[in-house]
Formats: sequence, structure tokens, C-alpha cells
Amino acid sequence: MKNTRFLLSSIGQKLLLATSGTIMFLLFLVPHMGGNVLFLFGKDIFNSYAHHLHKLVPIVIGIEVLMLVSISVHMIMAARTTWANRKAASSRHSQKGSKERSLAARLMPWSGIMIFAFIVIHLANFKFYEKSKTMLDGHEVYDVYGMVLSRFQGDLWYVGVYLFFMVAVGLHLSHALQSALQTYGVYVPRTGSKIKAASMWIATGMASTFAIIPIIAYLN
Ligand code: HEM
Repeated sequence: MKNTRFLLSSIGQKLLLATSGTIMFLLFLVPHMGGNVLFLFGKDIFNSYAHHLHKLVPIVIGIEVLMLVSISVHMIMAARTTWANRKAASSRHSQKGSKERSLAARLMPWSGIMIFAFIVIHLANFKFYEKSKTMLDGHEVYDVYGMVLSRFQGDLWYVGVYLFFMVAVGLHLSHALQSALQTYGVYVPRTGSKIKAASMWIATGMASTFAIIPIIAYLN
């Protein structure tokens, strides 16, 4: 009872928000970006990576369940925090606080909703899409490389859609990283902070790395 009350307090909600976000970032987004980079090294390397990943069934299912729990907790806590902040701001009758916040901070709920929409579209495109097979070292494997290539090749509109969503990923991460560190007490907001700059660079680097793949696939 005491624990539930703590988790639903404002600091408890922030801890759940930061921890679910950190889990998704470290256990899914960073490895997913690393794996996707292999696309740039050609068909055999990318298909071999996907083939080995598909063989790790218990680990993949474990991560998928953890991601499902994390995304649910993250969305509920984000909605509760946004709602509480709006209520507090309107009772103060002041707009000052929102003007002092960065664009990324103010857009957090919107970039979050966009990422959710992106994941739904993305899963339909790649996860729940029937993949054809190809040969790799004498074995038949799923042609994940061919699937990504054919999604973007000659489809500039689709490349644009992905790039648009990657802007949302970059904006969301740039505020989320420093915000999580603030929740854990590692970062105190101030101008010229190295943590603030590092959050921005990591977010831009990751969003750009993801964005390169549709562009390269289109040009291929
Ligand atoms: C823009 C570059 C990206 C490319 C080319 C890409 C590619 C892929 C591919 C090929 C799969 C299917 C893997 C398989 O079934 O073998 C996949 C799965 C997935 N991707 Fe992406 N991805 C990109 C960015 C992202 C981003 C930015 C996110 C999250 C914000 C994301 C979230 C997911 C999720 C949740 C899955 C399902 C994982 C699973 O359940 O196994 N992807 N992606």
C-alpha cells in the first residue's frame, strides 16, 4: 500500500517514467540502431545478423515482453505527469514556466505520440510483414535486407515519412536523456551544462543514424 502510494506520488511517477524510458533506450533502441547499421554493409551481413537474432527466441521474446510493459508504463506515467503539469500551470495563471522550457521539452507529449504512431506503422511494415527467403552460405534465411530495400527503393514519399518520424525521435531523446538524469539526481539544469549538450548530441547522432538507412535504401 505504502509502495503503491509512493509510485503514484509525483516523484514516484517521474521515477517510473525515467526507468521505463531508460530500459527501452538501453535494451532496445541502442542495440536496434547498432543492428540497423549493418544494413550499410550489404545483404549477406544484414541477413546473417537478422538470422542469428531470430534464433535467440527466448531472449527476443523476453525483450519484447519487457518493451511492452515499459511502453505501457511510460505512456501512462507520461499522461499523468503532463496532466498534473497542465493543472498546476493553469492554477498558477502563468505562462512564464512554459516559455522558459526548450522546444523539445514543450513538444514531449507530441513527439511521444508520434513515436507511438511510428512504431505501429513500422511493425506493420517490417515485423508483421511476410518476408521472402534467400540463400546465405547454403542455408535458406529470411531476406530482411530485401524487405527493407524494397520498402524504400523508389518511394521518396515513404522515405520522407520515415525522416519526419526520425525528427520526432531526435527531439524526444534530446530532452528525455537529460530529464532522466535529472530524475536520478545526476544532472542539475543550468546553461552550458555538458550533460545537456551530450543529450542533444547523442539524440541527434542516433536519429541521424536511423535516418541514413531509408536514404541509402532509396539510393541503392
Ligand atoms: C529508420 C530506420 C529503421 C529501420 C530500417 C528499422 C528496421 C527494422 C526491421 C527490419 C525490423 C524487423 C526485424 C525482424 O523482424 O527481423 C524492425 C523491428 C522493430 N523496430 Fe525498427 N527500424 C528502424 C528504426 C526504428 C526506430 C527509430 C524504432 C523505435 C522508436 C524502431 C522500433 C522497432 C520495433 C519495436 C521493432 C520490433 C522488434 C521486435 O519485436 O522484434 N525501429 N525494425
